[in-house]
Amino acid sequence: MSSISEFAPAENVEAPRVKHASSGVAAIETIDLWRIYHLGSLEVAALQGVNLRIEQGSFVALKGRSGSGKTTLLNCVGGLDQPSRGQIRIMGEEIGGWSERKLTEWRRMQVGFIFQSFGLMPSLSAYENVELILRISGVKGKERHRRSVDALDLVGLTPWMDHRPFEMSGGQQQRVAIARSLVNEPKLILADEPTGELDSNTAQEILGLFRSIVRERNMTFLMVTHDSLVDEFVDEVLILRDGQVVSTLDAQPEQTE
Ligand SMILES: Nc1ncnc2c1ncn2[C@@H]1O[C@H](COP(=O)(O)OP(=O)(O)OP(=O)(O)O)[C@@H](O)[C@H]1O
Ligand SMILES: [Mg+2]
Repeated sequence: MSSISEFAPAENVEAPRVKHASSGVAAIETIDLWRIYHLGSLEVAALQGVNLRIEQGSFVALKGRSGSGKTTLLNCVGGLDQPSRGQIRIMGEEIGGWSERKLTEWRRMQVGFIFQSFGLMPSLSAYENVELILRISGVKGKERHRRSVDALDLVGLTPWMDHRPFEMSGGQQQRVAIARSLVNEPKLILADEPTGELDSNTAQEILGLFRSIVRERNMTFLMVTHDSLVDEFVDEVLILRDGQVVSTLDAQPEQTE
């Protein structure tokens, strides 16, 4: 990766839009977003002026080579990392202006994360890992139980509910992570390679599940992926190259909603 001093100022690139969604306030909008990491005297520009707009209720894949900035972008959008420059608007609100408390509350109540490494608590069962999210959100006992059981059922893990992560395969652990991200019924899901550890049949099932959840709950879903299977499931594919969105391929040009 080159140093930031080699880059020209960001051009005023028009943000790609998802065609098939409603107009109005975007779920996610980034404006000239930069993230520069400092490694000693070296500056690594992971994001170099990202402009994008993702409509509410859309299912969007983010692709690009390893090191192109996908995880960095996802972390910035989810408020887990701070951009060096530029703006991130969630439902029209600039999150750079939010207090740490508001950001934490928003993440807890309205965002579901699915990480590349599953991020499960090793000493807790699948059920407890999912239920923990609702405990943190203050959901009461019976409701917590019902929603946790439903979420695990949704990803086909009912028989594995009492197993701990080390007793499960990578794919099963990933499904626990997916159930955990859905259980709070967030408005936005940010996922980093959610199907990376799954065989192609299971990956297809999970992608179909994501798509139907996006439709049913009018949820917005941004998913980093290398999986070629996703193109038929998503509304749009965004491609990052060297920290910039370089092109947009409409995944389903024939579809009009
Ligand atoms: N914490 C960090 N400190 C320094 N450099 C970093 C840090 N995180 C990421 N980078 C650098 O930023 C660039 C983008 O990294 P990022 O993790 O966003 O890529 P990615 O597209 O998610 O790659 P992959 O597909 O391998 O997960 C890379 O050059 C990486 O080395
Ligand atoms: Mg990554």
